[in-house]
Amino acid sequence: MNHPITRSTAVLFLLLFALNACKQADNKSQNQKNTSAADQNWWKEAVVYQIYPRSFKDSNGDGVGDLNGITSKLDYIKSLGINTVWLNPVYSSPNTDNGYDVSDYRNIMKEFGTMGDFDKMLKGMHERGIKLVMDLVVNHSSNQHEWFKQSRSSRSNPYRNYYHWWNAERGKPPYRYSLFDVNHDAWKYDSLTNAYYLHYFSVQQPDLNWENPKVRQEVYSIMKFWADKGIDGFRMDAYQFAAKDTTFPKIPVNGQNFMKYYAIGPHLHDYLKEMNREIYSKYNLMSVAEGAGNSLQDAHDMVDADRHELNMAYAFDGVSVAKANGYSLLELKNVFSRWDSAFAKKGWLSIFLANHDQARLVSRFGNDSPEFREVSSKMLNTFLLTMRGTPYVYNGDELGMTNAGFTKIEDYNDIALRNEYQHMENTGGDLKQFLQLAGKENRDNSRTPFPWNGSANAGFTTGTPWLKINPNYKTINASAEDKDPNSCLNYFRKVVKLRKDNPVLVYGKYTLLDKSNPNVYAYTREYNGKKLLVLLNFKNKAAVVNTGIDLAKAKVLLGNYAEPAQDAKLRPYEAVVYQL
Ligand code: GLC
Ligand code: CA
Repeated sequence: MNHPITRSTAVLFLLLFALNACKQADNKSQNQKNTSAADQNWWKEAVVYQIYPRSFKDSNGDGVGDLNGITSKLDYIKSLGINTVWLNPVYSSPNTDNGYDVSDYRNIMKEFGTMGDFDKMLKGMHERGIKLVMDLVVNHSSNQHEWFKQSRSSRSNPYRNYYHWWNAERGKPPYRYSLFDVNHDAWKYDSLTNAYYLHYFSVQQPDLNWENPKVRQEVYSIMKFWADKGIDGFRMDAYQFAAKDTTFPKIPVNGQNFMKYYAIGPHLHDYLKEMNREIYSKYNLMSVAEGAGNSLQDAHDMVDADRHELNMAYAFDGVSVAKANGYSLLELKNVFSRWDSAFAKKGWLSIFLANHDQARLVSRFGNDSPEFREVSSKMLNTFLLTMRGTPYVYNGDELGMTNAGFTKIEDYNDIALRNEYQHMENTGGDLKQFLQLAGKENRDNSRTPFPWNGSANAGFTTGTPWLKINPNYKTINASAEDKDPNSCLNYFRKVVKLRKDNPVLVYGKYTLLDKSNPNVYAYTREYNGKKLLVLLNFKNKAAVVNTGIDLAKAKVLLGNYAEPAQDAKLRPYEAVVYQL
């Protein structure tokens, strides 16, 4: 946990609960009756495009992306063929963690605009048939939220129990790890009331006390506020941390069951059921939790339609396969196949390999050298859009954007990284190695402003961008790629359309082929008598695949080379989708 590699993407690693206890859950889910996997739903058919508002488009020259910027680009978003947008938090926030520290859940962050701008943006999306999923950040609030100000003011304040306090006369509270704290300590001493408060993330992000029914009612009322505005769903940030053992027992040293003490507490499912009764059952909202529990069984229980909790969750096993020095395709295939089989009959999956907490898709899972960047980016997007489950695509990955690769600490904004750097400085760690790894792994790699065109500041802003623009924007930008029929962007549009035109890609059964092939990922999708075959070479060399299927009569639906392979030999990073 304290290792520098894990630290820069610490969120991810703490959330990857699922590696251990998978097998028993597999069996259980196979036995359950076949009810919901094939039930059709708009959120199963959604292709989710994630917009990082700070970096998407600046409309007023202050260097920060904003809501009017997004509204001005709705036609571009529509042109991708996607039908759902997930927007990172846009609520009022002092911005220590770029909006993941909310100070007022019913207002818009000043830098991003006004509620009027929000309404305009939402209307513009709906006019184009695009749904909007908002980020709901309720494991913690900002320490600038009125609740917290009240809560810390005195021990008898009515808001005291909105957060987790530990009175100092009880001694030091049992250690809890903090993801973003300079000292990794999740308890912050506050002399005002001689007590410690809990913050799993930074000191500016105190954890809300979900045991308190008033807190839960506040959250439902916030959800109702946005649902009544007509939004279409919530992505529940860091949600499984909300349910925790609030007696805060000592965690055994080297305890295997760290997570048992830390998250996914005994009442997680009670909270979700209550939230479902109060909100989700009353609106046509999509719900997706960040984090999918400790095991496939946890994940399954969160999203089994019969249990009335959530539609989807997303686990971190897939993204965690990539390490700084590469990854094993066999492991990747294994993770995705295992997850698919656990949800084959009930429940529903999310498919993703990148987001605002990860380095860039093509840099981590493909090859960002000039020779292979385009072809490998197309291959990866083919993968994301031909799997069963709802795909999430992070803005810029449709262009094949690459890591920023910053080399200086001053270039970074990420609070997790900056605090860890300070920690390393305090403890005499290897700062050079730390920065080298950060250049590959840190999440700011994917947060650089969106390159709209080859003009100054990539057409993102007329001012000074809040985070440096990737220097390769002159070649990798939306305008240039729009004009090039063979660009990543135009390929992305094709593969989204392929999914839309072929429900088999949404609902069809997934079967892994040539399982032990270390280079090629091959699978079929089958639904209502239709069968597609997907072949993906994940390597920079030609590779042979052995599926046992005669391709002579197969029809090529899409490929990332001008002349797609007609035999079992694939060129570097080749992707082909056949109809059998
Ligand atoms: C989630 C978000 C991440 C944020 C953290 C704290 O993991 O995706 O960006 O820093 O929660 O809210
Ligand atoms: Ca702006």
